Amino acid sequence: MTAVPVVAHRRIEVPLAGRGYTVHIGPGVRNLLPEVVAATGARRVAVVTARPAGWTPDPGVPFLTVPARDGERDKTLAWVEELCSRFASFGLSRSDAVVSVGGGTTTDSVGLAASLYHRGVPVIHLPTSLLAQVDASVGGKTAVNLPQGKNLVGAYWQPRAVLCDTDYLETLPPRERINGLGEIARCHFIGAGDLRGLPLHEQIAASVALKASVVASDERDAGPRHLLNYGHTLGHALERATEFALRHGEAVAVGTVFAGRLAGALGRIGADRVAEHEEVVAGYGLPTALPPGMGTAELIALMRLDKKATSGLTFVLDGPRGAELVRDVPERAVAATLDAMPTGPAPHA
Ligand SMILES: NC(=O)c1ccc[n+]([C@@H]2O[C@H](COP(=O)([O-])OP(=O)(O)OC[C@H]3O[C@@H](n4cnc5c(N)ncnc54)[C@H](O)[C@@H]3O)[C@@H](O)[C@H]2O)c1
Ligand SMILES: [Zn+2]
Repeated sequence: MTAVPVVAHRRIEVPLAGRGYTVHIGPGVRNLLPEVVAATGARRVAVVTARPAGWTPDPGVPFLTVPARDGERDKTLAWVEELCSRFASFGLSRSDAVVSVGGGTTTDSVGLAASLYHRGVPVIHLPTSLLAQVDASVGGKTAVNLPQGKNLVGAYWQPRAVLCDTDYLETLPPRERINGLGEIARCHFIGAGDLRGLPLHEQIAASVALKASVVASDERDAGPRHLLNYGHTLGHALERATEFALRHGEAVAVGTVFAGRLAGALGRIGADRVAEHEEVVAGYGLPTALPPGMGTAELIALMRLDKKATSGLTFVLDGPRGAELVRDVPERAVAATLDAMPTGPAPHA
């Protein structure tokens, strides 16, 4: 990938007192790397990259390149330990910095390693998947998996800057693009407004701006941040029920359609707004129907395990005051809405 100068691009501020940072979005923004490294004061950096050589611009200081292992299977504490050992062997000091280049599994594990190494060194994310650009790289949540479940060990560690270079997305497989679009589509219902028809970089910027404002009001997920989980209660259940054959963004898309129907069934929104859920999700080319073979009882049991569900069945639902967390939704309304959902084709392997 050849270096191109950074011309006009979008800058979104994440306004956190003393730890605020900028998310840069647009073609070529990876070339801001030397500038953002210099702003950290680092004299050297470790670049952990899941992408081929040539995707990371010269950071402007001496650097170590560590090839990342991307994918969910290597999002482990063992990998975080190995990363920290590589940093130590290189002599990375507490005033140096780490750079991640890859999808959300890379930004999550490298972010966690940066939060732990020397009790925390600056990290700069260069997310390369659409999902990582609109969601995973922004907001400071980092985590790895345990055999018992996903994202069970992590830390809040805000990056110093995020460079969402849209050139990276040119090589993204269609299914990975769809995965990111699922997170963009749900933004329509939680305050981003109608993003359909905008150029992709504008849609990324709007999604990031929404996340930035939510994170600024609730960095540690004590309240408003749950809005970002729109469509996720059923989404998480569908991921598990299909043994992850349905990708996260696809599952969230179906969950978003379901959230609209459930809000309609509870009298929180009218038929037009329910239909809008289906239109928006379908308009992005995302699935709107349940995969075959989903049992209502199994899905309800999985939704009761959702980490937001402290008691009963909990959903983020649209309503007269906009989307909000609704606890103790009656099981019969959930079951009836699930039963009324259409069934679509099996997810691609
Ligand atoms: N921390 C958070 O707030 C947060 C939010 C959402 C998701 N996540 C995490 O993010 C992860 C999912 O992210 P993901 O979907 O990016 O996963 P990923 O890192 O596995 O990337 C998905 C696939 O796309 C490939 N890829 C990435 N960029 C590419 C490019 N430019 N061209 C071609 N192929 C490319 C990767 O090699 C991989 O096969 C999950 O582990 C999830 O828990 C974290
Ligand atoms: Zn999500």
